[in-house]
Amino acid sequence: MSSLEQLVKSAQEDFQAATDSAALENAKAKYLGKTGQITAQMKELGELSPDERRSRGAVINQAKEQIESLLTARRDALANAQLQERLNAEAIDVTLPGRGRSSGGLHPVMRSWQRIEEIFGSIGFDVADGPEIENDWTTFTALNSPENHPARSMQDTFYVDAPDSTGKPLLLRTHTSPMQVRYARMNKPPIKVIAPGRTYRVDSDATHSPMFHQVEGLWIDTDISFADLKGVYLNFIQAFFETDDLQVRFRPSYFPFTEPSAEIDIAFGHGPLKGRWLEVSGAGQVHPSVLRNMGLDPEEFIGFAFGSGIERLTMLRYGINDLRLFYEGDLRFLKQFN
Ligand code: DAH
Repeated sequence: MSSLEQLVKSAQEDFQAATDSAALENAKAKYLGKTGQITAQMKELGELSPDERRSRGAVINQAKEQIESLLTARRDALANAQLQERLNAEAIDVTLPGRGRSSGGLHPVMRSWQRIEEIFGSIGFDVADGPEIENDWTTFTALNSPENHPARSMQDTFYVDAPDSTGKPLLLRTHTSPMQVRYARMNKPPIKVIAPGRTYRVDSDATHSPMFHQVEGLWIDTDISFADLKGVYLNFIQAFFETDDLQVRFRPSYFPFTEPSAEIDIAFGHGPLKGRWLEVSGAGQVHPSVLRNMGLDPEEFIGFAFGSGIERLTMLRYGINDLRLFYEGDLRFLKQFN
């Protein structure tokens, strides 16, 4: 065996003996590095005659190429072994079921909200949105609520620790009715709008939540009467509950911002609630003082307003008897609506 063949053989043995890439690169230096044995032989070529140099050079080159390919083969083998080791260590169980990403759904109160917008939209009502942090004037004074009205007390209203421009504390709106005033002051009659949204009261039990939803309705023109209120509300309630088999009743009541005022009750002609009168809304003809606060002349304009609880409508629609279910985030409850 020539000395070069021997060199290739010893390189092969050294490479084989290297069990990681650091050791392999060290072994490589021994042959191909600057002071390596192949490199040393190359250097010696300079001392030979041109002819000898050519033939000797070719032989050394061949040995060099052999060593290089042995090196590459060993590098690949080590990389493969390393990969295999990792794959073994990180064993995955491909039989486990996949983690599906299920799609979310709308909250039942939101479903009602959307439904209400669709129904009133279909008969030409605009949809308005306004602030949940309100001032005293828009929430109470403009709506004709006297200074000593119980709704204004700390027991009923969440006040915010900040004054409005007149020095009165701001508050979380206790109803959507301030939207009547806001909208009417920004739009000219005919005014035909609903304003759904969140409302807040100091109240919490099976049928009351500190945060709940209302939808306000307002229609003002030169000739909008209580008869229109009856027609519009009946149409709405039948569309909302998807049945004509129900009755609507207007029961005299009192609200500072309407005169006359009524509670609207409904009674289904079928189902578990059949024949029972259920209160769903307050309503009435907009009070002349409120019209004035809207910047309108009560001699010229007249109209109706209503305010309905969206949770209440939702509970009746789906037969839910505890309001708190809406706010607990229990998927077993919520999934039933999607
Ligand atoms: N704002 C009243 C409440 O929260 C509901 C209401 C009654 C609204 C009569 C109205 C109305 O627009 O006309 O109890």
